[in-house]
Amino acid sequence: MAITTPTTVRHHPAHPVSVQGVGRTFPARDGRHTATPVLADVDLEIATGEIVALLGASGCGKSTLLRQVSGLDVPTEGRILIDGSAVDGVDARCAVAFQEPRLLPWRTLAQNVAVGLPRGTDRTTGERRVRELLELVGLGECTHLRPRQVSGGMAQRTSLARALARNPGVLVLDEPFGALDALTRLRMQDLLLEVHAAEPATVLLVTHDVDEALYLADRVVLLGRPQGSPKGTPSTVRSVVTVPGARPRDRGDADLAHLRAELLDGLGVPTHHSTALTD
Ligand SMILES: Nc1ncnc2c1ncn2[C@@H]1O[C@H](COP(=O)(O)OP(=O)(O)OP(=O)(O)O)[C@@H](O)[C@H]1O
Ligand SMILES: [Mg+2]
Repeated sequence: MAITTPTTVRHHPAHPVSVQGVGRTFPARDGRHTATPVLADVDLEIATGEIVALLGASGCGKSTLLRQVSGLDVPTEGRILIDGSAVDGVDARCAVAFQEPRLLPWRTLAQNVAVGLPRGTDRTTGERRVRELLELVGLGECTHLRPRQVSGGMAQRTSLARALARNPGVLVLDEPFGALDALTRLRMQDLLLEVHAAEPATVLLVTHDVDEALYLADRVVLLGRPQGSPKGTPSTVRSVVTVPGARPRDRGDADLAHLRAELLDGLGVPTHHSTALTD
């Protein structure tokens, strides 16, 4: 009897990402008279298969950094390497999913996921891979539905499947669960961990949710202006926190409480805990 392999498309290996002295200044325009320095001296080494969460105040440059990793934006200083070679233009090794799922409304979920398949994938292989991915995100029964027929969480899962269809070595997620209700959000976090275990890409994730960062990430990177610097100073890496404990973690873990306070403090939200720590 012939043995069939369960995976129909060879998955890319996960890649390390190296952010080296990256800066970004947007030129003066749109009525602004001066250039806007947004990022400066950003250094970050992300290991193969690692999950890194980026936290920082609104407007501090998180999306800009993600866009640079995926080649949608170009740093004005420094460089970014994926697996040792420079990102130069939209990078096929990288897949992106955004806060809103951005599905094509007139296509089925399966057709939307198929949009992510690498160019040149043959039809049978593509169909099998799309089915496999929709099953992975728990939508095996919904392949024929259209985006308006499904919930926000289902649309977000489809968007994740579409990103995975590219077989990315690096998965870039910009507030992927930001638009979801609290309960769906928790479920999606578990789903992301399951997906990561099944297809272990290197993950760079932006979130505003400290608990989400601590639940998902190996390390949490706090991006922002150096403490005490004047407004208009570009953001850089302010701190990097290694999150202890193997996943899946206990959401109520007391060990994480002081890290939570530390990160909230770094975001300018002092807590009872953080005050107590600095006493
Ligand atoms: N193409 C652009 N041209 C000019 N300025 C830009 C451009 N893209 C981003 N910026 C500016 O860069 C800064 C950082 O934007 P970015 O979207 O990276 O922030 P963010 O940290 O993702 O914020 P949020 O948490 O609100 O999503 C903002 O001040 C924004 O106005
Ligand atoms: Mg953003």
